[in-house]
Amino acid sequence: MLLHIDGVLSPDELRQARAILAAAPWGDGRATAGAQSALAKNNQQLTEHCDETRQLQQLLLRGLERHAGFFSAALPKQISPPLFNRYGGAANSFGNHVDSAVRYLANGAGRVRTDISCTLFLSAPDEYDGGELVIEDTYGHQRVKLAAGDMVLYPGTSVHRVEPVTRGNRLASYFWIQSMVRCDQQRRLLYDMDNHLRHLRSSPGGEANPAVIGLTSTYHNLLRMWIDI
Ligand code: NI
Repeated sequence: MLLHIDGVLSPDELRQARAILAAAPWGDGRATAGAQSALAKNNQQLTEHCDETRQLQQLLLRGLERHAGFFSAALPKQISPPLFNRYGGAANSFGNHVDSAVRYLANGAGRVRTDISCTLFLSAPDEYDGGELVIEDTYGHQRVKLAAGDMVLYPGTSVHRVEPVTRGNRLASYFWIQSMVRCDQQRRLLYDMDNHLRHLRSSPGGEANPAVIGLTSTYHNLLRMWIDI
């Protein structure tokens, strides 16, 4: 499932994030790449362990926590600490690759199975040319370039790339989610059902409708059957 989650960061949070990024220490993006990815990766990223990265991670995780649509779509069990990258100038692209199946967290803090890959855009589309995230999907190639503060979720299994940035800079955050529901199709069904139920509940008399109560019970029973916590 490829999903656009809008408004993860408010305009004010976005301004804060951009101010932090403007003064942050950038390094070679290959520092965190696997062997195959390192061959294709040509960008810059923030040092993983510095105050700026920690401040940005807190800002972003707060945005995710309050976003009901994100929770319903991802059903997160664990979120890898968000990282931040920049494409522009000579370091402007990331060729086709697939993300590693497991992210090992710093200081032996555990592992995250990368069920879902996430990119949160921190630059507005008119600030740069190129830089589309291209995801190879069963429906063909999906080209993604979103408003600043918006995010795309896509299956960790997908081959994907970032097209060369030919003007300006593309700033983004990227991270991975291990979901409580491992299977993409099951997660998709639950997400659709939750959305339909939310519409029904908000219609007149929806909350008290016995069919809505019954379907809500079905949602939770499916979740109970598929969940891994
Ligand atoms: Ni990737």
